[in-house]
Amino acid sequence: MYAKKLLEKLREEKRLSKEEFVYLLEHREEVREDAAAIARDLGNRYYGRSIYPRGLIEFTNYCKNNCYYCGIRAANRNVKRYRLSKEEILKACENGYALGYRSFVLQGGEDPYFHIERMEDIVASIHKRYSECAITLSIGELDYDRYQRLFDAGADRYLLRHETANEEHYRLLHPDSMSLEYRKQCLRDMKKIGYAVGTGFMVGSPYQTMEHLAEDLLFIKELDPHMVGIGPFIPHHDTQFRDKPAGTVELTTFLLSLIRIMKPNVLLPATTALGTIDPKGREKGILAGANVMMPNLSPVMVRKDYALYDNKICTGEEAAECCICQSKRMEMIGYQLDFCRGDYKELES
Ligand code: 5AD
Ligand code: FES
Repeated sequence: MYAKKLLEKLREEKRLSKEEFVYLLEHREEVREDAAAIARDLGNRYYGRSIYPRGLIEFTNYCKNNCYYCGIRAANRNVKRYRLSKEEILKACENGYALGYRSFVLQGGEDPYFHIERMEDIVASIHKRYSECAITLSIGELDYDRYQRLFDAGADRYLLRHETANEEHYRLLHPDSMSLEYRKQCLRDMKKIGYAVGTGFMVGSPYQTMEHLAEDLLFIKELDPHMVGIGPFIPHHDTQFRDKPAGTVELTTFLLSLIRIMKPNVLLPATTALGTIDPKGREKGILAGANVMMPNLSPVMVRKDYALYDNKICTGEEAAECCICQSKRMEMIGYQLDFCRGDYKELES
């Protein structure tokens, strides 16, 4: 059983070659249960049975980019565009704080309206009011100086998925105006500045192969991020990928397990996209090694307009409803939501 041997090697050495990852991915059915059990065990060692909730505030769906897979791409005329005001963002934090959240994620498209001065002001205001809370940004590609300024204003963490580590594959998903090399540079800059950095990719995105996924895993190994966000690709009806198949739960959860085994102390969300393709998707993600959830704190009025893909869950529920629902879901599988900052824990030597 070569697949079992490779899994054991990954556990011991925390790395595999590209060819070995491809083999493991292709023979995943032989080792899926073992991989999940090892991953859960490693996750529990660092984070116990705590699942860290991050309050997600999707504050603008304007975006200047045109990623081919994304529902809020600039060229999509059918999107009802919105921006939350600073007051609305602070209100969402207030609401989240009252529910117990100590970690907020500001996510948006790359929206020039939220230029650096405006973002600095918003981050500083949240930081001032909720000084014990972690502030995560997910607002795309900036330059070194801007990342530094937002860090100085009080942001602790930054999420920027690399989307795919393979250059040719990257070109099939993005217009020429975007560059994988620059994206990787952004991630390196953020690390240098001192952010807790999250990267990640979609599983089952159009034209993706097992070789590409192996390269994603190698890139993660090399970057050594604090967080890794992965979720299935889900087609959006207004994009050129509308007829492409969605990624699967089984491949996504297997990759979650591999990432946890490769990097036992990583923060790993069970994503909303995973919950969208399967009603028990997030639970399956946790049982495969994930330890973070990102419930939505955006005002219900705008929820459905932040549609990166079709049929997104939780667009009708108030933040409090999602919170109760997620607590119950976690309890059902023997975990509990832990409303702390949920900081990254350094690897034990
Ligand atoms: N399906 C799944 N995930 C998507 N994202 C964007 N579009 C889609 C889609 N159609 C992901 C990207 C991005 C993150 C915010 O959402 O990976 O980085
Ligand atoms: Fe949002 Fe269940 S988690 S409604």
